Amino acid sequence: MCGIVGYVGNKRCVDLLVEGLRKLEYRGYDSAGVAIIDGGTIAIRKSQGKIDRLAKLISEEPVSGHCGIGHTRWATHGRPSDVNAHPHRSGSVVVVHNGIVENHRTLKEKMQARGRKFTSETDTEVIAHLLDECVSDGLSLEMAVRRTVAQLQGSYAFLAVSETEPGTIAGARLNCPMAVGIGEAGETYFASDLPPMLAHTREVLFLEDGEIVVADASGSRLTDFSGTPHVRAPQHIDWSPVMAEKGGFRHFMLKEIHEQPRAILDTLAGRMLPESGEVFFETLPLSAEQLASLKKVIIIACGTSWHAALVGKFMIEGLVRIPVEVDLGSEYRYRDPVVEPGTLCIAISQSGETADTLAGMREAKARGAVTVSICNVVSSTIAREADGVVYTHAGPEIGVASTKAFTTQLVALYLLALNLAQARRALTPSQISDHLMELSELAPRIEGVLKHEAAIARIAKKYKDATDFLYLGRGISWPIALEGALKLKEISYIHAEGYAAGEMKHGPIALIDERMPVLVLCSQGESYEKTLSNLEEARTRGGRIIAVGTQGDSELLEKAEDTILLPPVGRMSRPILEVVPLQLLAYHMAVLKGTDVDQPRNLAKSVTVE
Ligand code: M6R
Repeated sequence: MCGIVGYVGNKRCVDLLVEGLRKLEYRGYDSAGVAIIDGGTIAIRKSQGKIDRLAKLISEEPVSGHCGIGHTRWATHGRPSDVNAHPHRSGSVVVVHNGIVENHRTLKEKMQARGRKFTSETDTEVIAHLLDECVSDGLSLEMAVRRTVAQLQGSYAFLAVSETEPGTIAGARLNCPMAVGIGEAGETYFASDLPPMLAHTREVLFLEDGEIVVADASGSRLTDFSGTPHVRAPQHIDWSPVMAEKGGFRHFMLKEIHEQPRAILDTLAGRMLPESGEVFFETLPLSAEQLASLKKVIIIACGTSWHAALVGKFMIEGLVRIPVEVDLGSEYRYRDPVVEPGTLCIAISQSGETADTLAGMREAKARGAVTVSICNVVSSTIAREADGVVYTHAGPEIGVASTKAFTTQLVALYLLALNLAQARRALTPSQISDHLMELSELAPRIEGVLKHEAAIARIAKKYKDATDFLYLGRGISWPIALEGALKLKEISYIHAEGYAAGEMKHGPIALIDERMPVLVLCSQGESYEKTLSNLEEARTRGGRIIAVGTQGDSELLEKAEDTILLPPVGRMSRPILEVVPLQLLAYHMAVLKGTDVDQPRNLAKSVTVE
């Protein structure tokens, strides 16, 4: 997730663009840059680091002009650096981009064969080259955009300027946001989200998937990818600037919960071919021989990432048939672990900076394990120090309570397990294909679950005065019970325990009475009947049952006081779906309690001390 701004009109635009980027810094802050057309030439200023560094650079080397584009980056392809910072130039064309060009490698190879030289590690640079090839052939920028989008696969919102058409900005959108603000006297503002434009205009067109926008001093126009004009009136936006920063959501956490379908699609992008049953990772350090001789996997993580690790154990053992050990970073580092030859250590961390996870991974590496990290923050310490890294493309997670980072970690683990199964021939291509189909259907299914938010908010209202909660789950849903309980306690400060449902009768059952809500993860699947019995045991002791189950389960509807029913999915996808209503329940309980949802007391987003 990156932030894009643009302006064309009668104002000098550099300060306006930089201020706009500051308002988008929550979308990414690895590097930033602007490109301004001054006369017939485009001046670029860009720098690794936050917007302040860019502003300093501009004060040292001023630029001026009335037409420009800008970008604040959250790295996905290519580490944060000056060279990888946007804008990217090819010949007379300069581009800023948000999203992932999935076929960038193929496009790059083809263009290299035609003699094109690439300077960055980004996927974006292919867009600049494709546009420049068209512009060099004498096409207008608009036509160049049309030809270019026909070749791109993946997700994108991009803006381009060209020295051949000073005073024009053209762009396109597919699966990434882009708003077009209508200013005074033909001015046009562009931004990924609304905050940068609200001080200038409240008349906004939201670019839709498959649309191209072209703007110059006389105003803007939209077409579809084939050039057919799209005419519609702008919407009047009355959001406050604070609301706009959160995309109209009340808290970052809620925004991030709703971003999960997109984050999952981005994490899958370019890594799988469901039809042929193939999984790809660019950055795995293991040779075919190493993969074939793997004996054991250990997964090290903390907090929510540790819950992802517990799910990962089910995925890897189930799909690859290799034993998996899961450890908390804070325990692993001190327990004098045994690391045998043929061990793969997977370290999972959203921030990539968690001290205990880092120390655990170092310990495993020092004892001879090959290390792979699953991280969200590109070039973070854990990502850099691991032998290989699989990035989750969740975008910046600002709420302290982890949500979209967790579901994308699960997706990354699922893909990694399939990748290992493919390399070791533990599954046939047709079996892998079935799993990949399942993964490709996850995002719309989560969209469907998010539609139950109002009903979940009503459940939250009913139970908001409870002082203790029990969360129960079995098998692959057990870590989700732990995660649901963690979410509730960290943001609402209500005491909650997550338990393996079968363990309830070994102790926690003593706690159950009519004051104890018991949330049971009871989807249909391998341990449904057993979980249903546990639910019954809790119910007969007076526990108030909230059940998360499968659509069409009338028995569950009868047995539970409240139910949240999800679409039927395969075993490995189930936890990814089940956690979403638990996130929403915790969120709405916290809102009703009036806590500081995004920055709960005593917690930090990144725990860099032991
Ligand atoms: O950045 P990491 O994934 O390594 O962070 C690990 C934990 O600190 C983190 O998941 C924490 O438990 C969150 N507050 C959970 O919502």
